[in-house]
Amino acid sequence: MEFLRVEGLKKSFVPPRGGAPFVVFDEVNFSIDKGEFVCIVGHSGCGKSTILNILAGLDEASAGVVIMAGREVAGPSLDRGVVFQGHALMPWLSAKKNVEFAVKSRWRDASRAKIGEICQRYLDMVGLTGSEDKKPAELSGGMKQRVGIARAFAIEPKMLLLDEPFGALDALTRGVIQDELLKICAATHQTVFMITHDVDEAILLADKIMLMSNGPNARIAEIVVNTLPRDRSRNTIHKDPQYYPIRNHLVDFLVSRSKEFTEQPPADYDPRHPPQVTPGLPPAAPAIPLSLVQPHGAPSPVVAGSKN
Ligand SMILES: Nc1ncnc2c1ncn2[C@@H]1O[C@H](COP(=O)(O)OP(=O)(O)O)[C@@H](O)[C@H]1O
Ligand SMILES: [Mg+2]
Repeated sequence: MEFLRVEGLKKSFVPPRGGAPFVVFDEVNFSIDKGEFVCIVGHSGCGKSTILNILAGLDEASAGVVIMAGREVAGPSLDRGVVFQGHALMPWLSAKKNVEFAVKSRWRDASRAKIGEICQRYLDMVGLTGSEDKKPAELSGGMKQRVGIARAFAIEPKMLLLDEPFGALDALTRGVIQDELLKICAATHQTVFMITHDVDEAILLADKIMLMSNGPNARIAEIVVNTLPRDRSRNTIHKDPQYYPIRNHLVDFLVSRSKEFTEQPPADYDPRHPPQVTPGLPPAAPAIPLSLVQPHGAPSPVVAGSKN
């Protein structure tokens, strides 16, 4: 079931001293189903954070629309939980109070005990038990980022928007939080849009990986379908025969094809329908022409040179 639709999205900036506008991206079209986990991968500066901020209702597109659950996105909402690239915490509030502020806005009538319980559950999840009363200045970069993650998860939004949320974390914490995120998504059918520069993270978490070409005029070049089983785990994922074809495809895009695409998109590329690809699997069988289908539905045997 389609949950989010992005149509004809464009962002351009007019230089302060006039001249031609700088088009960051143009004709960005994609959709996300309910419960789907979508990652976007692309080089720095191509406009990923800008797209996420437009989905969050924190930035305005120069053209195009974002429709979530049948309504056009206009301004921020507690339906969407955002984890920013920087932690974006309120420096005068403790870790717990930062999370509590969001939880209280979400459930205005909840009791103090209930609010306290929700905050503690998500602070424990991100490994901040014992640091609840510290202010951001007393926390390390990774700890601050974890408070931001707890805050976004704690409001249990209809959609999570994650901007490179785990980039500042050490590998161990990143693994724990990725696993938690997978568990939450499986249990709640959470819909997620996530920016990452880590292809392994994308393969572990995402159902679909959107590849964005370099700017200016960046586009969604391709949508890679993750064909690994959904109950994958970090310890065994690399043993799946699909893993390396997908990984190589993503790395190849980042290393060379993103630049080639920017210089010369393929002749049949249509930004309204970016191609969906399944690396390592043969392309979907072409549809059997109707003329070859017999009335009872079975295709006629057509064998070149057959005596029949
Ligand atoms: N206020 C602005 N004026 C002009 N250009 C901007 C402004 N804000 C962002 N940009 C440009 O938009 C582009 C996309 O930025 P961003 O969305 O942060 O990229 P990403 O997240 O993919 O690294 C960058 O090239 C940046 O220079
Ligand atoms: Mg960014």
